[in-house]
Amino acid sequence: MGSAVYLVLHPEAKQFFPLIVGVSLTFGVMLIIPIGGADMPTVISLLNGYAGLSAAAMGFVLQNKLLIIAGALDGSSGLILSVIMSKAMNRSFTNVLFGAFGQVQAAAAGGAEAKPVHSATAEEAAAILSAANKVVIVPGYGMAVAQAQHKVRELYDILTKKGVEVRFAIHPVAGRMPGHMNVLLAEADIPYDRLIEMDEINGDFPQTDVALVIGANDVTNPAARTDHSSPIYGMPILDVDKAHTVMVIKRSMSPGFAGIDNPLYYLDNTLMLFGDAKQFVGAIVRELSGGH
Ligand code: TAP
Repeated sequence: MGSAVYLVLHPEAKQFFPLIVGVSLTFGVMLIIPIGGADMPTVISLLNGYAGLSAAAMGFVLQNKLLIIAGALDGSSGLILSVIMSKAMNRSFTNVLFGAFGQVQAAAAGGAEAKPVHSATAEEAAAILSAANKVVIVPGYGMAVAQAQHKVRELYDILTKKGVEVRFAIHPVAGRMPGHMNVLLAEADIPYDRLIEMDEINGDFPQTDVALVIGANDVTNPAARTDHSSPIYGMPILDVDKAHTVMVIKRSMSPGFAGIDNPLYYLDNTLMLFGDAKQFVGAIVRELSGGH
């Protein structure tokens, strides 16, 4: 911007023009690269909006009314659409754009804290699951990354055969796109009537023996209910912390998309099952099928 102002004031300093192009290009690439997954449509829509705004600006330079009107329409609709899309995900527009930066900072901060957690093995997890009457599985982005849905289906089958009632809690923004979990679980042929929406299942967690969280993080973060300073405060979550026992399969203590720590992991009724979702669920299935 400084170079642009200088160039306007001193049009003869032509060497500033390639500098502006180079710096803008680098800035644009660096701003967009950390944004991934389903936030991409939001960003594409924003970039379309930028293109419209620059067309409108060009219209003023060329004194072309059509270009001004078309550019303004394109610019405003792109901006409005990107704001609506981020609102639909219950997150602020700035969080969509800069959330990935936060993730790096929070990961670094989380590493420094190192609060104690309870962890368990696949064998222990299998024993707890087979002793349960009611199990709610909470899938999230990590299940999608690990492509664990078919192993989850095997777990569902084996627990159901043992007489355990197994249901799946579906959060509207679990994963990285609307309906992400529904699609993956349908791909694995899990009966659709076992998939329960957040509002419907939340009241059942206090009567649930085990909430098994598979690669979900933000959508289970109780800070959204209790911590006014949390960036996700007010976002509706799945109340897994109210279940008798919570088991969380993830690889490490790294934060999820929102880049914040999850107090769920430090609760007395929470057991961390550290590992890749597909491998860990596979190990539980092996324990369950070999054990009886
Ligand atoms: P996240 O909060 O992103 O957490 C996913 C967790 O999965 C991570 O903490 C990660 O922990 C774990 N993970 C990653 N790879 C794994 C693997 N191979 N095996 C086991 N665990 C693995 O996911 P969520 O709870 O589904 O929440 C979704 C988030 O994305 C929300 O913040 C939401 O706002 C945002 N979002 C949603 C959408 C839509 S429309 N669904 C679109 C854009 C953004 P480790 O690294 O420790 O394994």
